[in-house]
Amino acid sequence: MIYPPIIAHRCGGALAPENTLAGLHLAARLGCRGVEFDVMLAADGVPVLIHDETLERTTSGRGRVADMGSVQLARLDAGSRHHAAFAMEPVPTLADALHRCAALGLWANVEIKPSAGQDVDTGRVVARLAAAANGKLLLSSFSSAALRSAAEEAEQLPRALLVGAIAPDWRERMAETGAMALHSSARALTAETLAEVLAAGFPLACYTVNRRDDAERLFAMGVSAVFTDRPDLWAASEM
Ligand code: G3P
Ligand code: MG
Repeated sequence: MIYPPIIAHRCGGALAPENTLAGLHLAARLGCRGVEFDVMLAADGVPVLIHDETLERTTSGRGRVADMGSVQLARLDAGSRHHAAFAMEPVPTLADALHRCAALGLWANVEIKPSAGQDVDTGRVVARLAAAANGKLLLSSFSSAALRSAAEEAEQLPRALLVGAIAPDWRERMAETGAMALHSSARALTAETLAEVLAAGFPLACYTVNRRDDAERLFAMGVSAVFTDRPDLWAASEM
């Protein structure tokens, strides 16, 4: 699989409220070809874009995402915490986000981000919807159970295993999830481990890289792509 080298983290990076449609638009306007966002199930089982299991940090709501229906979530303000200019930006559904990515020509890394105990259901529901969307996308997750259930639902969709530092059992986890790529923290990456991953035939993408010189060092080492909050550091022709 060919990665866009610069992937806007949580839709538009730090330049827009995270995991919003406004972020997708901003990424496209900057010339990004790829975006990443986090997906969790609302109380009614509808997958929505949000990072935390609780609403307080990024929205006007309170409590757990898993306790609120998607219609209520859509009425929350997920923009003002970032800046008043984005007031009343909703918590989008995955369906809306995939539709928007297709309209904007964006490749999407859909990160399956299950709330506690929801790994299997979240993987299944996200994969079903992603398969139906028929877009340019990649599923990823820190959760092996979510990746396995995504594979059962839609084996044909490419999957990446997400990790912090690359642990010694990475080969087993890649095999058990059927992942075709590894996404790791940039901070903990060593040249030795990267060489092992590449030698095994797996591309590696790194998060979260907010400086150009760090990204260039990683690309020179053989990293395929970086997730960044600062896609504005690159020209459209470089992304
Ligand atoms: O998918 C890469 C990155 O988004 C993983 O970390 O916590 O920002 O979802 P997080
Ligand atoms: Mg993420």
